[in-house]
Amino acid sequence: MKSPSLNLALWGMLCVIFLCSEPSQSIDIDIGLTIPNPRLSKAYTALQAWKYAITSDPNGFTSNWYGPDVCNYTGVYCAPAPDDPHSLTVAGIDLNHANIAGTLPEELGLLEDLALFHLNSNRFCGTIPDSFRNMRLLFELDVSTNQFSGCFPSVVLCLPSLKFLDIRFNQFEGDIPSAVFDLKLDALFINNNKFSSSLPKNIGNSPVSVLVLANNNLNSCIPSSLTKMAGTLNEIILLNTGLTGCFPQDIGLLNQVTVFDVGFNNLVGPLPESMGNMKSLEQLNVAHNKLSGAIPESICRLPKLENFTYSYNFFCSEPLTCLNLKDKDDRQNCIPNRPLQRSAMECKSFYAHPVDCGAFGCSPRSPPPPPPSASTATTLSSTTLAPAPAPLPTVAFKASKAPKA
Ligand SMILES: *[C@@H]1O[C@H](CO)[C@@H](O)[C@H](O)[C@H]1NC(C)=O
Ligand SMILES: *[C@@H]1O[C@H](CO)[C@@H](O)[C@H](O)[C@H]1NC(C)=O
Repeated sequence: MKSPSLNLALWGMLCVIFLCSEPSQSIDIDIGLTIPNPRLSKAYTALQAWKYAITSDPNGFTSNWYGPDVCNYTGVYCAPAPDDPHSLTVAGIDLNHANIAGTLPEELGLLEDLALFHLNSNRFCGTIPDSFRNMRLLFELDVSTNQFSGCFPSVVLCLPSLKFLDIRFNQFEGDIPSAVFDLKLDALFINNNKFSSSLPKNIGNSPVSVLVLANNNLNSCIPSSLTKMAGTLNEIILLNTGLTGCFPQDIGLLNQVTVFDVGFNNLVGPLPESMGNMKSLEQLNVAHNKLSGAIPESICRLPKLENFTYSYNFFCSEPLTCLNLKDKDDRQNCIPNRPLQRSAMECKSFYAHPVDCGAFGCSPRSPPPPPPSASTATTLSSTTLAPAPAPLPTVAFKASKAPKA
């Protein structure tokens, strides 16, 4: 990072160059540049360093990133500083869908007033610099759909204002630090990375309304603390995360959840009767697991349930109510008198081995085995997995131009 005195020297130099080349505008520019707002001057240093770290910008988003008027740069938004309304500062960066390649330099930490950093759908690699810890006002961080890699970017754990964290569709790997679930976030998207830790026990501390962990390799039970999120959780996508074990018996406490997706995992045991208390449920996907037993009728009676997908399991019976749902998929189970079920032999050999929920080390004790029965449902998920960012409310600030004094 450059020192403030260096900054001033830089501004002085620019001023001289500018004055020499355009003498007719001297008064305006003289005032504008000899008394630079220190915030914008730091931003200038940061953005020039960033421009230098960009290796490809095929659509020319940064082609006007020169000169001191950083508020005029494409993708850079200025607003009055919260602690000094007379001073303009860089409050937002939005370079979504710019297809830019490069890295994030440490100098970006000079953007201390940044509230919003949106970088989705680019080709940035490397990681998120530690200097981001200076961004005490950062509220939304979206670096999704890039080529970032390495460990979980733990600098996000030090951002006191962060509400929206989206790092999905990158190449991050290793553990998801449990501290993420202690952050006061509204939404957390970490799907489609290469995380391999198990889900931490404190997951239920998270106050998020949307939690998307899909397409990672978490190899974990559904932590029973999940039910602590009952007051806030609205949408949870655990599709293809390597989940094992049985559902927590009291999962039905999550009565504000509208979308619950645990498809493509290794869950076993029955669907708990308590799921019939998930009164807000609209989309329920449990397909492609090893679930068994009878489908509780209370689930299919849920007033808002539109789509219940339970294909590719070993369920042995379903109430008629379920067949009346708008969208349901019961293929490839062991349900008598239904089309496209598993073979009698497959079902028989599955039911020969009772499920022991206790064997996975995540449920207190095993429930009674499901009633034996045999005779002889595919789908994917889900709403929030598209690479595009979720349209969540953004910080309201007015884009404005630098004062010309
Ligand atoms: C800012 O951009 C506008 C148009 O995009 C241009 O007319 C104006 O001269 C620019 N201001 C400066 C100081 O470069
Ligand atoms: C129902 O949910 C399944 C699984 O999430 C999904 O694949 C399917 O497209 C959904 N059906 C409709 C009509 O939205």
